[in-house]
Amino acid sequence: MNVEPAYIDDLSRIQEAYAEGRRRQQECGTLVWPEFSDATLIEEVRARKLFRVVDNGAMAGTFAIAYEDRVVWGDRERGAHVYLHRIARGPSDGSRGLLHYVVDWACAHSRELQREGIRMDTAAASSQLVAYYEKAGFVVVGRNVIKPDPTLPTHYHGTEVALFEMSWDRSACRYGVNATRSEGGLSSIQDVTLRETRITELDAILAMEEGDARDFIIPYSLERHHEEFAKNSVRYLSIDVGGKLSGFVILALDDDRQSVEFRRIVIARSGHSFGSAALKLIDTYSTETLRRNRIWLDVFKTNARARHVYEKHGFTQFGQTVHDNRTLVLYELYVGRPSDSHEQKPRCGASGR
Ligand SMILES: CC(C)(COP(=O)(O)OP(=O)(O)OC[C@H]1O[C@@H](n2cnc3c(N)ncnc32)[C@H](O)[C@@H]1OP(=O)(O)O)[C@@H](O)C(=O)NCCC(=O)NCCS
Repeated sequence: MNVEPAYIDDLSRIQEAYAEGRRRQQECGTLVWPEFSDATLIEEVRARKLFRVVDNGAMAGTFAIAYEDRVVWGDRERGAHVYLHRIARGPSDGSRGLLHYVVDWACAHSRELQREGIRMDTAAASSQLVAYYEKAGFVVVGRNVIKPDPTLPTHYHGTEVALFEMSWDRSACRYGVNATRSEGGLSSIQDVTLRETRITELDAILAMEEGDARDFIIPYSLERHHEEFAKNSVRYLSIDVGGKLSGFVILALDDDRQSVEFRRIVIARSGHSFGSAALKLIDTYSTETLRRNRIWLDVFKTNARARHVYEKHGFTQFGQTVHDNRTLVLYELYVGRPSDSHEQKPRCGASGR
């Protein structure tokens, strides 16, 4: 899924998404959105505050943002958040995870603007929705009965809203794990830690490649590891579990200054989802340390376990290639605030597996 600014051409699909939202609101007996005029939406498009979420070329959903919201937040407004409004799934969208994707994008946007995090509100009476947002990692920080105000859509007038907040560095809470950040942008989730590899660990890395992972990667010689390790554009990261070296990752920076190739991951002790935890840390490392917002990789089509892990993490397929008569599937994931120039995808050569 990609987040992109909405265009005037998108308005009819965005209105369809709102209509679908109203249908669901009626079904659930919650507060129903009023009609939003095209003129209001056009204003938001021009201000680049209305977005579309695109999945496999189709519009999966839409949302709007604001940079202040004093009418709803009153004295709590202090210019420190990005506000999310009107998140709506497209009527034909079957994919899951729209909210999480929007939240990730908004957290990254908030971080970029050096704000503290993101905020949203919903009718306090919608207990199911309140629970859903809390499960997604938001914290209810208050309630407010909104006085009628001509600048607000009518469904707000007299409504008691629950006020939600999430700081951008807590967005990982949605996974139900505690993420902590440490020096150098490297971090840990529970007892899985990502840190820069020491040159003395290359022997251990070689041994990991020669274990069970062998069938799923194209192992390097020790000499090749030393060559790659020395390159400025290549990063070796060690994965520690409980303080013990348990895996590694190789990342390579693409020339386009946007993408990073996730060239390899090996976990020596599989079966505990340590790889999944490492992927979350790699997202953060890619955005915060490498300042890249797109991660791509190739994986042998037959590597069902790795593909499961990547897809579960949110990677989507964008092509296929062949290496030594074996099919490789290409996956990509946008992790930070997507830049406006998605068109410049790097060419993918022979596999680094
Ligand atoms: C791919 C790898 C990094 C994943 O590490 P991990 O998260 O520790 O993997 P786990 O064994 O715990 O399995 C993770 C998930 O895959 C699932 N899985 C395991 N075997 C599977 C299979 N044959 N088919 C589909 N899914 C499978 C597990 O059920 C688990 O699912 P869940 O997260 O929904 O519970 C690790 O298995 C590895 O090092 N593999 C060898 C090297 C490799 O293939 N690297 C990738 C090259 S592109």
